[in-house]
Formats: sequence, structure tokens, C-alpha cells
Amino acid sequence: MTETVVLKLGGSVITDKSGACAIDHARLERIASDIAAREGLFVILIHGAGSCGHPEARRFRLDRGLDGENTAGIYRTHAAVCRLNDAVVDALRNEGIEALGVHPLGMALADDGRLVRCETAHIRLMLKHGVMPVLHGDVVMDLTRGASIVSGDQLVAHLAEAVQVSRVGLATDVPGVLCGGTVMPRIDRNAFFASGIAGSQATDVTGGMKGKVAELLALAEKGIESNIFHVSRIGAFLDLTDHGGTVVAGSR
Ligand code: IPE
Repeated sequence: MTETVVLKLGGSVITDKSGACAIDHARLERIASDIAAREGLFVILIHGAGSCGHPEARRFRLDRGLDGENTAGIYRTHAAVCRLNDAVVDALRNEGIEALGVHPLGMALADDGRLVRCETAHIRLMLKHGVMPVLHGDVVMDLTRGASIVSGDQLVAHLAEAVQVSRVGLATDVPGVLCGGTVMPRIDRNAFFASGIAGSQATDVTGGMKGKVAELLALAEKGIESNIFHVSRIGAFLDLTDHGGTVVAGSR
């Protein structure tokens, strides 16, 4: 049976976070060839924003919603992350993958910063017809705040559940969830609170590693485990070999 996998590329692994929308094309080429080399997998690819979206979201204070002064931030933030999406799709297509950009702004709705609706029927159809959907963290309209930022990690959790995928992987610029400098091979809700990560400062508008683990723990409680590993280990994750990272698991 063909497996369906959700793979998220953190924004910091495909952009240089110090520049303004500085896309790492060489990294994207390597990732695309890693994915292209694996046959017989249905992949839903989701990427973050990195320097193509986070600076705009911050500048327009979209984390606080719309205030009558920052409406242009919707366009600016969306346009920035769409530029990155085009680059990801191009890199995959150059490797012969039938990739297609799918933008959450047009298919999802949030309430107070949380995704409440997200169409997935077309994602299933794309997979069925051999198309790889490539989604991204995005600005979306929000019932309470007017607009808000939905992270790629929120989308990972939503799609993994809605499409009932068999595996979830998040490629990051660190080897896994770190505690005292070493990778935690497994983390569940109890270990999360014991490790101190739960109380750490957020590093970007959507919460950095803390936000990521929180999303994935909620998913794990619904029975879907996920994996956080270094971007150089994407092949190992797809091949079901040891990726050397962290498994986010439900509490036993
Ligand atoms: C953020 O998505 C989306 C925008 C700011 C538009 P993510 O939160 O998934 O991005 P990264 O992975 O942290 O860069």
C-alpha cells in the first residue's frame, strides 16, 4: 500500500533568517532531489516562512490581528511567503515532481489564531492524481482578530488528522528537540513540561520549537506520532531508517 506522508520544512532551513526573503536555493535543490529519489510515497509538503513572511508579519503586527492600520500586512505577508512557495515548487518540478502550490489564505479560516476550517478534499484529489501539494504557513482571515498567522505546524497537525497520513516529519535546522544540548529521542506531554521547553521564550511570531512541539503533542494525543529531525536526515525519515531526531509521542 502506498503511504501518505506529511513533511514540513522549517522556514529557517530554506531561508536565511538574517536576510530579507533570502531563499536558500541550493538547500532547496538538495531537498527536492532527496524527495525525488524516493518512489511510492504520497507526500504532502508544507513549509514555513523564515525570512519570507515572518519579518512582514512582525512589521505589520499581525500577531495582534487587524487594527484598522495594518490591513496591507495581509497582502505583504502573503506575497512574501508565496515567493518562497514558488521557489519550493520550482525546485521540486526541476526534479520531475508534479508539485503544485496550495495557499492557505484561500482555503482556510482561523478563530483567535487557531485554524477552524481548512478544505482538504482537493488535497486528497491531488494526491490521487499524482500531484504533490505544497502548502505553507500563511496569513489567513480570522473570525475574532480579522486576520492571523497560521503556522505550518498548525497545518501539519490539521492535515495529518484530516487526511489520515501514516507518517509526519518536520525537518529543522537542529537535530531534534534539545534538552541541555542533547537530543531527546522521545518526548511526550510529561517530558515536555519536565524539560522546561514549555516555559521557554518564543523565537518568532508562531512560537519556535516550543510552538512546534505543542502542536505535535496535541496531534500525538489523537494517536498520530511525529518526528523532528535535522534537514540532512529527510532521506532517512522517508526511508524509515533512524533519523537521529525526536519522536513526539502520546502520553502512555
Ligand atoms: C509562519 O509559518 C507563516 C508566516 C509568518 C506567514 P511558520 O511558523 O510555519 O514558519 P517558520 O517555519 O517558523 O519559519
